Amino acid sequence: MPVVAFAKCIFNGYPSLIMASLREARRFNKAYAKDTSKGLKQIESRMMYFTHQIEKGLSHQNFRYGFGKRPLQYLAKTIHAYCQLNPEYADSMPYTSALAALGEYLRRHEGHGESLAYVHSLFPAGLLERAESTSGSEGGSLQFDSSSKRHNQTRTYRELAEERHSIREFSDETVTYEQLKPALEMAMRTPSVCNRQPTRVRVILDNNTISKALAIQGGFRGYPTPPALILLTSDNRVFMAPQEHNEGYTDGGLFGMSLLLALEEQGIAACPLNTMLRNGPEHATRRLLSIPDNENLVMYIAVGHFPSECTTCVSHRFHADDIVTVVGETKD
Ligand SMILES: Cc1cc2nc3c(=O)[nH]c(=O)nc-3n(C[C@H](O)[C@H](O)[C@H](O)COP(=O)(O)O)c2cc1C
Repeated sequence: MPVVAFAKCIFNGYPSLIMASLREARRFNKAYAKDTSKGLKQIESRMMYFTHQIEKGLSHQNFRYGFGKRPLQYLAKTIHAYCQLNPEYADSMPYTSALAALGEYLRRHEGHGESLAYVHSLFPAGLLERAESTSGSEGGSLQFDSSSKRHNQTRTYRELAEERHSIREFSDETVTYEQLKPALEMAMRTPSVCNRQPTRVRVILDNNTISKALAIQGGFRGYPTPPALILLTSDNRVFMAPQEHNEGYTDGGLFGMSLLLALEEQGIAACPLNTMLRNGPEHATRRLLSIPDNENLVMYIAVGHFPSECTTCVSHRFHADDIVTVVGETKD
């Protein structure tokens, strides 16, 4: 093979993609929060994950007493490990959020001795006392009335962003493509790399297909089938070099956020849902929805109309200062 062709093959072809994937796999494998042995950040993330499981249980319309035995077990373990490793745990957002969720769990289970006994068997008494005295603003469930969404089209970006919440239980009203179109048109303003616009959108309105897709997805169990489901994918045919191979997720993610805010502006409720599927479920999804090989799955969005009274998770956030590193700040 001529030298130039060989170099092109190495740097611009399949071998280059494989090497990039191996580098990514190595870095991911070193970092990800597989268990509590890796470090504080990983423990913190696991704690937030289990807190979120409790928040989801607390925000179900049909509340199930005694829910969440496994997440409570894991939460107890991670809180214990977290407090041992972080001397400043008491004021940290993940800890206060976990306590607030636990506090609501205790309050909602008043009079349910068996469930309370279970919680008391997992957590130290002092921690549960603190949990009981928390307010609901930092964790647990959140309620609002759908009438608060009536004037969303006149609201500022800040108001839309602050008051958008993932809604997982919708009213019985159907959703039509015509109702979604204005939000989809707005999301078309999403920037993308060199304006190549890789995002593709499937709007699924058939109840049977939605149930099948969500049964495979697995992260929406326990909720009624939403009236509509949107799937965002990214078309790899728009990319030109191996180093662009993840760009579809970036562009698709940006499109997803635009669409979520556009739906909110239109007074339509939504919840982003992951497409982090193992090989078998991914194949089943591709077959069910006829997704060709050249497209990557980016995310689903469950869509419906707001029920008159909405309940969702607080999903408390870090402050910007917690995640920002300023590089090269000038000093006076
Ligand atoms: C890419 C992505 C995937 C998500 N996947 C799921 C999911 O599978 N199931 C679910 O109930 N929520 C899912 N969520 C919703 C998050 O739990 C939610 O966005 C987060 O807790 C923040 O809450 P908020 O959207 O109400 O602000 C997902 C969110 C994103 C952005």
